[in-house]
Amino acid sequence: MSALTMQAIRVHRYGGPEQLKLEQQPRPAAREGEVLVRVHAAGVNPIDWKTRQGFMKDFFPMTFPYIPGIDVAGEVEGVGFGVTTLKIGQAVFGRCTTGTYAEYITASEELLAPKPSTASFAEAAAIPTGATTAWQALFDEGNLQAGQRVLIVGAAGGLGAFAVQLAKWKGAQVIGTTSTANLEFVRSLGADQVIDYTTTQVESVVQDVDLVLDGVGGASLFSSLTTIRRGGTLISLAEQPPQEQARACGVRAMMIAARTDRSILQTVAQLIDEGQLNVIVGKAFSLSEAQQAHECSQSGHGRGRIVLHVN
Ligand SMILES: NC(=O)c1ccc[n+]([C@@H]2O[C@H](COP(=O)([O-])OP(=O)(O)OC[C@H]3O[C@@H](n4cnc5c(N)ncnc54)[C@H](OP(=O)(O)O)[C@@H]3O)[C@@H](O)[C@H]2O)c1
Repeated sequence: MSALTMQAIRVHRYGGPEQLKLEQQPRPAAREGEVLVRVHAAGVNPIDWKTRQGFMKDFFPMTFPYIPGIDVAGEVEGVGFGVTTLKIGQAVFGRCTTGTYAEYITASEELLAPKPSTASFAEAAAIPTGATTAWQALFDEGNLQAGQRVLIVGAAGGLGAFAVQLAKWKGAQVIGTTSTANLEFVRSLGADQVIDYTTTQVESVVQDVDLVLDGVGGASLFSSLTTIRRGGTLISLAEQPPQEQARACGVRAMMIAARTDRSILQTVAQLIDEGQLNVIVGKAFSLSEAQQAHECSQSGHGRGRIVLHVN
């Protein structure tokens, strides 16, 4: 392959996993304020398949062909004019707007931070969206305090696994829901109480929590609302919560959309290097296996974050 080209997964039209094609295309070059990253691993997030499927087109219409993927870990191979915080050879991780399923990506330096030194590239690629969203939901929007009780609905996933650990780190009492296969896993993350959603209705055993993070949506949002004390908060990650029911329950309810925040990436990297936070890589695939990775993500079940090994 020429030094000027790269392999990337491209999507030419909305549709199923078969729309993910491994193709060659020109390698990008860093512009002002950007760095060129040689990608080692990319995280596979549910938003990647939702975008590919066309479910997000009213909010984020894509220009075709596009390269999917937002989470990345790799090495800086070039720096554009004006870059001050990163240098060539540095190992980085971060959250981009799109394009991480590729051998190279350019990104604004603001979207990247130095990789935790104790994490592999695959682990680093499993961090950005899950940890950033969990942080913003728990602390920025949820205002979680030590001693409060929080319910994490979908505690085993790439987002939930960080939410459980970060809430414990804060000193909260943590309840998590998951399927039978992941009960022990969620306990191992530090949850004080784990509920098997396949056998138990969460609202029959949980009441008066201060905060719920709901990563499941649908009927789960109605169950979640009834577990919260009056004056408490429901943060939905998957879809808009039902406002009328929330008002009737005396609950503040909102959906949040995560924003890339370098300072959160830096704090999370420090917690990982201090051994206070573990990164859970779920299934791993090669770049050419992106279709299988999306099928796996689309199943809605699993443990930790799926990653693609790229270089
Ligand atoms: N708004 C935002 O900015 C934002 C950011 C990140 C993610 N999200 C959304 O948040 C959701 C979760 O993301 P993720 O990255 O954690 O997804 P993920 O890695 O695919 O994990 C999904 C998890 O949900 C669990 N699950 C499925 N059905 C469940 C149920 N009925 N009750 C409890 N748990 C259930 C699965 O556990 P089992 O295998 O045990 O069933 C799995 O571990 C997705 O909808 C994603 O799009 C939103």
